[in-house]
Amino acid sequence: MILTGPALRERFQALDDFIVAHQHLWRPKPFTFLTQPWAAEHPELAAWLRERSLEQAEAAHNHPELLAAPAPFPTIAQRAAALAALGEHPPRSLGALPRRMDVDVPGRKWQQIEAFAERLQFQQQPSHWLDWCSGKGHLGRLLAQGGQQLTCLEYDPALVEAGLRLSERLHLQANHLQQDVLAADAGERLHAEHSPVALHACGDLHVRLLQLASAVGCTQLAVAPCCYNRIAEQHYQALSTAARTSTLRLSKDDLSLPLAETVTAGQRQRRQRNQSMARRLAFDLLQRQQRGVDEYLPTPSLPVSWLTKDFATYCHDLAALKGLELQGVNDWPALEAAGWQRLAQVRNLELVRGLFRRPLELWLLLDRALFLEEHGYRVRLGTFCPYQLTPRNFLLLAERD
Ligand SMILES: C[S@@+](CC[C@H](N)C(=O)[O-])C[C@H]1O[C@@H](n2cnc3c(N)ncnc32)[C@H](O)[C@@H]1O
Repeated sequence: MILTGPALRERFQALDDFIVAHQHLWRPKPFTFLTQPWAAEHPELAAWLRERSLEQAEAAHNHPELLAAPAPFPTIAQRAAALAALGEHPPRSLGALPRRMDVDVPGRKWQQIEAFAERLQFQQQPSHWLDWCSGKGHLGRLLAQGGQQLTCLEYDPALVEAGLRLSERLHLQANHLQQDVLAADAGERLHAEHSPVALHACGDLHVRLLQLASAVGCTQLAVAPCCYNRIAEQHYQALSTAARTSTLRLSKDDLSLPLAETVTAGQRQRRQRNQSMARRLAFDLLQRQQRGVDEYLPTPSLPVSWLTKDFATYCHDLAALKGLELQGVNDWPALEAAGWQRLAQVRNLELVRGLFRRPLELWLLLDRALFLEEHGYRVRLGTFCPYQLTPRNFLLLAERD
């Protein structure tokens, strides 16, 4: 089902009620607690999850809603799935494309770009595409095969230059402009005749587009957001009236929940991430005992090379970074094993939070959709590709007369 018209507001309200009512389940990060704040309320669920293995957690990660866990997990899972359900925008054919269009584009990225382009159908034909945070401008170049003009905005000079060369190679007249889209002069780049497209422009970057495009009066736009947590403010700044009147207040940490999904990570990356987290969890046990304070202690992110240190050195070095001196530790293997055991527990407990990833992401998308509605747009909200291709697969299409 594609969301449009009154269904946008209705779904937003239902999601808002659901997310607000379950804050005690999705806000706490299992990583930072030895006992979950909700464990006393749902002891059977907490105990069941803590018994499971790391492999079981990983197998359930992408589909936590299918897990046959004790109550209230199944009821919440069912509700979350229903509230996050969204259909795919119908595709159109792009016709024959020049060969070498996808030169330099990793396969998965090109598939995303094609899927995005195939979903752009508007009542009025666009005449000038504006690729917002374009990278090398692959999406814009694909769209401009229809004969429209093309402007690409990107702030990394190397990408601007590479984009220019690729357009020249295809004999395409395109403007590749170096522009920080957050800068005060970004609005001067945007004109009413532009049809802006933004594929995976992070947090503030795509929000800026919605604000500028609606102010300047663009007829259509298409946005597939990502990295909702990349914002300058400490807390989420709601865009629509509906979201501004909600009691939900989202920190940057909360905004990273929709991104905590790992469909594209390779085996090696996964192994490294697990090892790094198991070590951090072991260190957390150690620091609690050494400080005599039963509280999580945030630690900085560390280079991957730290994983090649032996475990005791790793702990000593990390302790030094936190101004701690370790004393009287004699069973390092036991501590390391305890870290891995905690990792299995944490990964399984995270499945509860996982149920709220898509609902929270859709809440954020609907805030953008309702904002555009308030600015006179008809909005259609759906997906543009299967989520195995990219978990950031929501696409917002907006047009006005
Ligand atoms: C995730 S990439 C997406 C690129 C392209 N749309 C795609 O899908 O291949 C985000 C792009 O935004 C660019 N970017 C980041 N901050 C920017 C800013 N303030 N102004 C303009 N571009 C920016 C980055 O250099 C990067 O190319």
